[in-house]
This record gives sequence, C-alpha cells and structure tokens, in this order.
Amino acid sequence: MSESIDSVLKEKRKFKPSAAFAKNAIIGSATKLAALQKKAAKNPVKFWEEQARTLDWFKPWKKALVWKHPFAKWFAGGRLNIAYNCLDRHLKTPRKHKAALIWEGEPGEVRTLTYHQLYLEVCRVSNVLKNLGVKKGDVVAIYMGMIPEAVMAMLACARIGATHNLVFGGFSAEALRDRIHDSKAVCLITQDGAYRRGAVVNLIEAADRAVAQCPTVKNVLVYQRMSTRPTMKDGRDHLWQDLVPKAPTESPAEKLDSEHPLFILYTSGSTGKPKGILHTAGGYLTQVAYTSKIVFDLKDEDLYFCTADIGWVTGHSYVVYGPLANGTTVFLYEGAPNYPRPDRFWDMIERHKVTIFYTAPTAIRAFMRAGDEFPKKHDMSSLRLLGTVGEPINPEAWIWYHEMIGAKRCPIVDTWWQTETGSILISPVPGATVTKPGTATQALPGIIADVVRDDGTSCKANEGGSLVIKHPWPSMLRTVFGDDQRYVETYWRKFAKQGYYLAGDSARRDEDGYFWIMGRADDVVKISGHRLGTAEIESALVANHKVAEAAVVAKPDDIKGSALVAFVTLKADAAKAALGNGRVHHLKEELRAWVAKEIGPIAKPDEVRFTDALPKTRSGKIMRRLLREVVTGSVKTGVKGDTTTLEDFSVLEKLRQGDEE
Ligand code: PRX
Repeated sequence: MSESIDSVLKEKRKFKPSAAFAKNAIIGSATKLAALQKKAAKNPVKFWEEQARTLDWFKPWKKALVWKHPFAKWFAGGRLNIAYNCLDRHLKTPRKHKAALIWEGEPGEVRTLTYHQLYLEVCRVSNVLKNLGVKKGDVVAIYMGMIPEAVMAMLACARIGATHNLVFGGFSAEALRDRIHDSKAVCLITQDGAYRRGAVVNLIEAADRAVAQCPTVKNVLVYQRMSTRPTMKDGRDHLWQDLVPKAPTESPAEKLDSEHPLFILYTSGSTGKPKGILHTAGGYLTQVAYTSKIVFDLKDEDLYFCTADIGWVTGHSYVVYGPLANGTTVFLYEGAPNYPRPDRFWDMIERHKVTIFYTAPTAIRAFMRAGDEFPKKHDMSSLRLLGTVGEPINPEAWIWYHEMIGAKRCPIVDTWWQTETGSILISPVPGATVTKPGTATQALPGIIADVVRDDGTSCKANEGGSLVIKHPWPSMLRTVFGDDQRYVETYWRKFAKQGYYLAGDSARRDEDGYFWIMGRADDVVKISGHRLGTAEIESALVANHKVAEAAVVAKPDDIKGSALVAFVTLKADAAKAALGNGRVHHLKEELRAWVAKEIGPIAKPDEVRFTDALPKTRSGKIMRRLLREVVTGSVKTGVKGDTTTLEDFSVLEKLRQGDEE
C-alpha cells in the first residue's frame, strides 16, 4: 500500500477537459460548475429541491429536509413512485419505444426491451407479487444474476411499495440465509442458474438451502434461465414463466411517501455482522438521477454500460435507478469480463456501439495485464466517456485506461461514493473538471465534504485525515435496518459534536482541494472492488470446529488491489492431526473452501497461515496492525519459508511491549 500511496503522492499530471467534449457537455465549463457549486453550498437544501422537481411527484413535499441529527427525512410529506419515474413518465414522451435495456447473455444471445415493453413486464411482475401476498412495506429478497428479469423484479417491488433486498449472486447459501433472516423477507425471487465464465452458477440450489432455514419466506419465484425446467418445491415455489406472461399489464403505481423504504442492501463493516443499509424513495432517486445526468453527461443517444452487478450498490444506483430515471438506454451483460477471451467488453463495446463505460479499477488492472493486443483488436471509437468506481485507481491504470480504452479522447470520471451514500458524492464533472490520475477530485454540487483531524478541524493541504460529509444529502442512508444504535455509533459518534458523517476512509486534499482517498480507516477491505469486513471472515473461520482463533488482514495485490491473509490458530487436536501428518496444505485448502462456503468465493483468503498464538496487546486485543506489517514484509516473524512451519510471533514480543492499541 505504501508504494501506491507514494506513487500517488508523486502524481502531478493534469488533464484539461477537451474543447470538443466541453462544447456538447451538460455542464461544459469550469466557470459554470463553480457557479453551481457556490450556489448549492449557500443553500444545499434549496439546491436539492430544484433537483427533486425534475422528478414526477403525485403530491408535493411539505418540507425539503427534516433533520433530527443524525436522522434525516427528505421531501417529507411528498408522494411519488420510483418505478413510475423510471418507466411510466417516459411513455408520454418519444422515449416510449426507445430501448431501455439491451442485454447480452454470456453465451451471446441479445435481447432488447423498450421502455414500453419493460413497463408491461414490470406491471405483470407487480401483479404476480401481489397475488403471492406481497404487500406494501414487505421485504422481498432478490438473488439473481445479471438478466433483465432482475431489473424487472426490482422495479416491480418499487412499484408496489415492497422493499427489495438484493443479495449478490456470488454469495453463498449461508450469506443469503443471514440476509433474508435479518430483513425478514416474505418472498424470494431467484433463478435456476446464471452463466459465468462458461459454467453455470447454481443459484436455485443455494436459494433452496437458504430458504429451508428462513420461515419468513412464504413464496419463491423462480425464473428459468436454463433449458430444463427446474425442480420446484410444491406450494412454495412458482415458475416465473408460468405466472408472469399470464399476469395482467395494469398495475397502478403506489403513491408512496418520499421516505418509504426502497431497499435494504447489506454491506460489510468492522464487526462480523453485515449491516443492512436502508435507503428510501424520494431523496435517493433525486440524487441518483441528478448525479447520473451530470457525472455521465447523459444524452438521449447514449448507450450506457456500467459493468457492476446489480447485487452491489453501483448496480442499484447506476445500472438501474439513475439511468432509467433519465430515460437512458442501459447495456446489461450477464457474464464474466474475460469470457471467452479477455476482450469480451471491448468486443461488446464495438458491436453495440457503447458510448459510456463505467467499471472498477480492479478490472482495468486485469485488462492491463491481459495485454494491449485485446483492446487494439477493436474499434471503440463510439466511446465518449469512461468512469471508475469502488477503490482508488492507481495512476498507471488510469493512464492505460485513458490511452488504450479512451484513445486519449474520453474524459475519465473517478467517482467516490459508498453503499451508505447511495449516490456519487465526489467526482469530476466531465467537460468542466481538470482531472489528475488517482483522485476523485471534488465534491459535487450540493455536497459539503472535507478531510478533518480527530478534533474535527480541517486538515491542511496534503495532511491525511478522516473523510467527512458536513451536511446531510438526499440519498444518504437513513439507518442500519433494525439497528438505529449501530447507525449512530458507526457513522455519527466520532464527530457528534460537529454533526459530521464519518465515511470510514482516510484521505487528504491536495493544494487544489482535490480529494485523494488513501484507503479504509477501519477493518473493511476492498478485494477486487468488493467490500468485505475482515471481522466477517474471521467469524466464519472460527465457526469451523478446527479453528481456535483467526485474524484476517489485507496485503497489496497488483490486480485485486488487496489480497486476504488469514492467520489461524488451530485447536490442539486439529493442529496435532494436521501438522503431525504433514497435511498442512490440505487443511489450508479446507479452510479456504470453508470461507467460500460460509460467505462466498470472493471472501476466500488468498493465504492461510498457521500460528500457535496471535500477537495481542496486554488487554487481549489482536494487533492487526502488526499482522499487516508482517504480511507486507516490514516485520519478520521468523518464518523459514517452509509452509509447514508455524509463524513464530514470539519474536514480536519486543514490539508488543508498550504497544497497546
Ligand atoms: O473506500 C472507499 C471505496 O469504496 C468504499 C465504499 O465501498 P462500497 O460501499 O462497496 O461502495 C462501492 C461502490 C460505490 C469507500 O468507502 N471507494 C469507492 N469509490 C472510490 C473508493 N475509493 C477511492 N476512489 C473511489 N473512486
């Protein structure tokens, strides 16, 4: 990590917006952006009211912001419907027969749904859900791959006022079960299988195992993606294809309160239990619609491709809600980026003439490694804008993206935000912002962000501190589902006196005021752009009967950004059996597979290291900082390079003295 921070610190290159791009951009000049920022900073609430007016409301709000620190209500008293704003209102315009979704399956089939067609399908699914007894305010879990039906499922929930809880298709049955359980979902929407890297991810099998332990789930709606009819459980399971095509296409959009819960999305924090981040309707849509428009400079003729899975927040805000609220044509792809070859994205960009491409730095690094010959094979002249999200982008990857994919022509928007923030808060505005590789640049209009010291005062230029947001914003999380206390503790306790939101990232601002994110300040790690709590992986490990104790830390990885190293102390009998019989490698693999089963393959530690004790403070706290230094090589533990040798932390005894954390 320190190496990448060093290189980022040395980064001095600047890229001015091109005149050609600026000429047609929505906010085409630095002066216009500065004026907007100034106006918004003076009265953020008024600014957001102006943006909210671009949506269709059934009933206007009474008060734009009701703020009882740290609980917010935006556009209180107003009534609207998210699905109506993403679909119905476009039907009164020439967008009615414009493509809303262009989807490509991994095997290669292509489907297009116009706004009108998507509307009809969403109405049908809404009716099916209602017939299955789903009511306004109920939670519906969605466990699907990247297919149009997943978008329909989300919009159908929004239409009837059910709260969706998407669980990423790469999560295990156990992770799905926990998320269903915590949210008390009454219904699950899933599919039999999803194509991924030429193989089939068996979603229904995991769903079955999860639901068997979730008594709240009364019905399961299964979309058949594969050629054979899936086996269904009588009375509980229903085939999408049996019910949806027959359902009526009239389904009035519920007139929902602006603060009606739109979705819960679980994300990792610094304890073992993921947090259900709760987002509500009016404020969320206002801000995702606005940021989609100005950050991606959305025009009616664009074909917009965000590679995120809809199981993550980027998929919610910038595959589904933001772009559809703007009447954009969204390109959706089912499978792996490198299937059948590492040029799958470039090939699709060329064939479909994608104009805006939004992806993660980890993907860019993987493409860089795959070789220039892959992008060079394709004509990507349709592209006009590129974006990144999820983790800091190292300047080398930024430059490669700029030159190899953007042909030096496309602005890059490096967008900083979080599951909690709901929408992009810090980002260049294309055509207006001078960009520098590695920084998300400035807060967008209406957002008051800063980097502060522990006492809440602003840091000087280039001084590291905590990234905070100083004023509430419409798409902010409203709480942690079912746990207001955790919401207050995690995000608002540290700067309670000042009333700042603590993002959990460390950052610095350079001499131009640009934000450089240095990484997480807590025990959250980013693995290939996915957010994982090390505590979650530790608790999965100790749930194994052979494990006594575990500590998980991250180490830098060229492609994934970070890789996971698990330090494990075994219970005496397991240690004796494994270490005595030379089955160390076998046991390591067993534990890695165990984590994959408990959480999902993304959480699998890259390395498992056995130790007879973990370094601890005198009060018994595991010194993860020290372990981090061990994995980055700055502290030697006495390991002799032999995989069968235990880490010997006794050599750290000296360091441990007086190092109470
Ligand atoms: O550490 C920051 C990093 O991702 C975290 C949020 O993760 P998640 O909730 O999974 O949302 C990811 C997609 C919005 C942040 O706290 N992060 C996100 N975007 C950037 C970033 N770090 C640096 N630069 C970014 N552009």
